[in-house]
Amino acid sequence: MGGIRTFDAPDELTAAAADLVLDAARGAVRDRGRFTWCLAGGNTPAMLYRKLASEPYAARFPWDRTHVFWGDERWVPSDDPDNNAKMAREELLSRVPIPQENIRPIATAGIEPEASAAAAERAVRALLGPGLRPDLVLLGLGEDGHTASLFPGTTALGERTALFAANRVPILDAWRITATLPLLNAARHIAFLVTGTPKARALRQVLFPGAETMVLPASMVRPTDGKLTWLLDREAASLLPHTA
Ligand code: 6PG
Repeated sequence: MGGIRTFDAPDELTAAAADLVLDAARGAVRDRGRFTWCLAGGNTPAMLYRKLASEPYAARFPWDRTHVFWGDERWVPSDDPDNNAKMAREELLSRVPIPQENIRPIATAGIEPEASAAAAERAVRALLGPGLRPDLVLLGLGEDGHTASLFPGTTALGERTALFAANRVPILDAWRITATLPLLNAARHIAFLVTGTPKARALRQVLFPGAETMVLPASMVRPTDGKLTWLLDREAASLLPHTA
């Protein structure tokens, strides 16, 4: 499967997203004995994480064979409300029997941004092995077309060898640690989860770029050898050509 899937009701979208993750997990465990999953940050995925922590998903999911890491982290303490790992722990990871050693958060305390990116890279390289191919990368979309913490015009967008980068984001006046395109695009399956009218314009520009528009970061995310799925609600898809 793959492609662009649009849903009217939020619970239909959430169920479809949960089915996608469960299918990816079961297939990975069947084929390779484990599931490596790059989690998205921001607010949108919270509904998906809550769904996976509930029945019937929680009981059917191969948590003991699941390994998670993050596609990005804000440069805030782990107990900060804006911390991506905090949200995922609260909505999912603390509610399911995933082994603690299978959870690889990005460090944001007692370390400099560059060193944190290097540590994240070491951990993910050790996890993925030489193939470096995450089974599933879950991503969101910002209103400016950013994804993970690859913001328009920022340095990390140009990274072609490292898997993680410390990225200074001027518009936020903040550091972010982010997976880079080499890591994201190595995925067997990339799934974007996008909801809400505010994302509609960026989504159209990403999916149907006009010649005049700047190439948005999310447009640069496409698996080298894998599936790409867009899971959308009606509002986010509202500016797409009806053929989509
Ligand atoms: C982050 C995310 C980021 C997010 C988009 C959308 O750390 O913020 O990685 O890329 O997916 O900003 O965020 P919302 O889901 O909150 O709209």
